[in-house]
Amino acid sequence: MNAWSDGFFLRHLSWRVGGIAAVVALACGSMACRPARASAVDDSTAPKWMDTAQSPDQRAKLVIDQLTLDEKIQLVHGVGWDVLMKGGHGAGIADYNFGAGYVPGSKRLGIPAINLADSAVGIALGAIQSRYSTLLPSVLGLASSWDPEAAERYGALIGLELREQGFNMSIGGGINLAREPRDGRTFEFSGEDPLLAGATVGNVIKGVQSQNVMGDIKHYALNDQETGRMGPGGTAGFNAVIDRRAAHESDLLAFQIAIGIGHPSGVMCSYNRVNGVDACESPWLLTQVLKKEFRFKGWVMSDWGGTHSTVAAALAGLDMEMPGDKYFGSALKHAVQAGKVPMSRLDDMDYRVLRSMFAAGVIDHPVVPRAVVNPFAGRRSAERIAEKSMVLLRNEGGVLPLNASGVRSIAVIGSHADVGVLSGGGSAQVDPPGGNVTTPKPGRPGWNEVVYFPSAALEYIRQHATHAHIAFNAGTDVVAAVALARKSQIAIVFVNQPMREGMDRPSLGLPGNQDALVSAVAAENPHTVVVLETGGPVTMPWVDKVQGIVEAWYPGIGGAQALANLLFGNADFSGRLAITFPRTDSQLPHPQIAGLTPAMYGTETGASPLSHKPFKEFDVDYNVAGARVGYKWFESKNLTPLFPFGYGLSYTSYAFSGLKVAADGSAARVTVKNTGLRAGTEVAEVYARLPKASGEDYQRLVGFDRVALAAGESKTVTIPLNDLCLSIWSTQKHVMERVRGTYTIMAGSSSSSTPLKATFVVAR
Ligand code: BGC
Repeated sequence: MNAWSDGFFLRHLSWRVGGIAAVVALACGSMACRPARASAVDDSTAPKWMDTAQSPDQRAKLVIDQLTLDEKIQLVHGVGWDVLMKGGHGAGIADYNFGAGYVPGSKRLGIPAINLADSAVGIALGAIQSRYSTLLPSVLGLASSWDPEAAERYGALIGLELREQGFNMSIGGGINLAREPRDGRTFEFSGEDPLLAGATVGNVIKGVQSQNVMGDIKHYALNDQETGRMGPGGTAGFNAVIDRRAAHESDLLAFQIAIGIGHPSGVMCSYNRVNGVDACESPWLLTQVLKKEFRFKGWVMSDWGGTHSTVAAALAGLDMEMPGDKYFGSALKHAVQAGKVPMSRLDDMDYRVLRSMFAAGVIDHPVVPRAVVNPFAGRRSAERIAEKSMVLLRNEGGVLPLNASGVRSIAVIGSHADVGVLSGGGSAQVDPPGGNVTTPKPGRPGWNEVVYFPSAALEYIRQHATHAHIAFNAGTDVVAAVALARKSQIAIVFVNQPMREGMDRPSLGLPGNQDALVSAVAAENPHTVVVLETGGPVTMPWVDKVQGIVEAWYPGIGGAQALANLLFGNADFSGRLAITFPRTDSQLPHPQIAGLTPAMYGTETGASPLSHKPFKEFDVDYNVAGARVGYKWFESKNLTPLFPFGYGLSYTSYAFSGLKVAADGSAARVTVKNTGLRAGTEVAEVYARLPKASGEDYQRLVGFDRVALAAGESKTVTIPLNDLCLSIWSTQKHVMERVRGTYTIMAGSSSSSTPLKATFVVAR
């Protein structure tokens, strides 16, 4: 069995947790004392490539001229599994920082090592160094804020903490489109729409790199489910089958938009195959599309253990094997010496790595880890972003906001709301300060653990409703929960859907007895509000029986506070769904997860990721939906979802008017009025229907803006329309281009509410 097949790294690292403190104290001690290298521009004796007046391209080329063959090879692979297992230091590597990957630098040439950390929602593996980082809301939550500025702040916070902890590269940036909303990593990704996902992740990368830390985007491409993530022998488990045009107008488009905004240093290619070729070995994906068509200037690294060849992968466009050296170590050296991989290709790999290091500033501003990192420093930012991310899905009879001084009694039920908030698992798992709050013990939680962070809704609800009687029931005993709900004025039921890498959810249903719990409570208490802590969409058989529904996602370390602010109306709900909530699994393009058989599935939350290993590689037919991912699928099949993409309520109300579109389709103008009695922020969503000649019959998001409005205020906003989203992929010319004809532009508050229409014409 391949060591990388099932979550490998984190699982293998966790054995070290018990004894790690002593090793770490030494390591941090020495690293914290290391002074920052003075910027080379101040030093006239410094080599030419340290001259910051030269471009990153020039500087990279100057370094390459100095590199020996061994040094060139060293830069294009990690140090190897054995070395990481010894914690680096045991293997004599003093500057390995206990992240998921490490590439040695060159002391001789003043090039620092690359220390990479998983950091999708905060920095992972922190407990190994007794360091904690801010747990931010899930990426899907962030996407649901429709707020590129918040995304940039999110990235900047991650970048800052990475830098303070001694890492100079983030491997977050998950952007796999939610073709399969039961994907165990849905929480790490940014929803189902290429524009919203691209704007979200692109801005996260921008934020990370603003801290002179390299950013990454992953998993390229079409790695949209975990079932079959690895096959027998550690090679691809599933083969994504998709028409090239459909890929360009969906998953690849999300990458294209994000890369155009964030210019990440790295792209991580994925474990799966695409149209029969390993994603990390595909000349079409890596060279033709990514490097030529998208003009990506950084380097492609394999997902961990995702390199399966030397010559084929190198020639296809893979630039770095991670985390080891099986194929890109001595095997690559021999291939270069034998002329099977041209030296110019190896130089290009090195150039891409070095150029990115110069461009991101990791060479001019080397990281200097701080000895002490405050685990709560980012809490305020996390709370603000969480407030923007939560979505009010239902508010019958105005049950919300709760009246802090008027409410007499509240039953808080379920999901450990007395102690914490749920977080997402796998390589994105951030270690909670003090350990998992539901089973406190020091160190890292295990790979299979469902981890709660110390942010207790019960406490913050109590702080708001100081006069009310507030009691908690765990929700495990439905009869007891119902008894409490019956004697309370309001019942708030917290439900959860744990998710993690390596394992999909078998269905959209809430796990365990939670549907029964909600129905039973709602039957006894007419003022029941459900709070969802889910990684993605869930079905709600009780939807019409409860008065209020709030989607809180995995809300991060400030989550409970943000939720309480919203529940009591100290803040308004401005989040809008970045993903469609289906009514049933049968509405999805694949009613059952492709390749998932009951025999492969273990228990609901505790199964080994190995249980998702397919018995043999299988195809996933993405042509079923093609480019029609999410709301586009629902529209083209005439299906009514439970809650549509872009949907979300507010405590106030809005009206849209006066839509106009520029003659060249570059922008739309629309007036948004707050017609209610309170301030609020509406998201103006602009969709387009392309001319008939496009062959596409569904609407697509082409622009959006958050509009903050005082009560009664109206604003006219100009919203740029994304040219790529108004285009189709030309199979002849291999470019995105507009077709001739009439484009209908629509504006409104969700994908299913676009009352305004305007048109523009492309004549030639
Ligand atoms: C995951 C990546 C992650 C890497 C390193 C892989 O299994 O798919 O997302 O960055 O491990 O932890």
